[in-house]
Amino acid sequence: MKKIIITIDGWSSCGKSTLAKQMAKALNYVYVDSGAMYRAITLYFLRNHVDWTDEKEVHKALKEISLQFVFNEKSQQSEMYLNGENVEYVIRDLVVAEKVSEVAAIKEVREFAVSQQQKMGKGRGIVMDGRDIGTVVFPDAELKIFMTADNAVRVERRFKELYEKNPNVTLEEVKANLEMRDYIDSNREFSPLRKAEDAVVLDNTACTEKEQFQKAMKWVQQKL
Ligand code: C5P
Repeated sequence: MKKIIITIDGWSSCGKSTLAKQMAKALNYVYVDSGAMYRAITLYFLRNHVDWTDEKEVHKALKEISLQFVFNEKSQQSEMYLNGENVEYVIRDLVVAEKVSEVAAIKEVREFAVSQQQKMGKGRGIVMDGRDIGTVVFPDAELKIFMTADNAVRVERRFKELYEKNPNVTLEEVKANLEMRDYIDSNREFSPLRKAEDAVVLDNTACTEKEQFQKAMKWVQQKL
């Protein structure tokens, strides 16, 4: 059967990765969480005290970074490895979330991540989620989805997720982080978050996971 590229872009915490994982599983496609790459780079910068306002430091640090997605049979999920270390859990921390949009706005960081993302899509049969996947990474993707949901719903969802890991986290902190990331992501100079002209919009404010999955799979059928 014909294999296509599916891109899912949108605001933070709209449920992009939930939908992308379900679609990849149903279609037997590869799922790539592009945000995990920016988070892993940020983690490396934080751990190694890289001054990311200094181009030379960024250039040198990127040469020392190797990113890999490894499929975990047990969790049935692909997990992010940074220089051979599984960082899937630690990159979800608020400490990383607080800096990731600053790091992801750097041109050289984006070029580093985008070239690897484009290689992953060579054989098609991929679902990738992020902010610039339909506009920059795969402008020729067969199906582009742009996800959105009301702010309050998104904050609540992310809060629940983070609270399970760390009960000290507050709703205000999570809200401020989402607003800050959305602002930086959509106002940055290089590859800002935009809906691709040919993307279909999926607003899941009042949609169950099942409903949004069914809707998206109908769009897939039209492309196969
Ligand atoms: O998707 P997630 O929320 O994990 O992404 C974390 C951050 O990585 C985003 O807020 C954004 O700054 C950056 N990102 C990006 N481009 C992508 C994916 C993520 O700039 N394609």
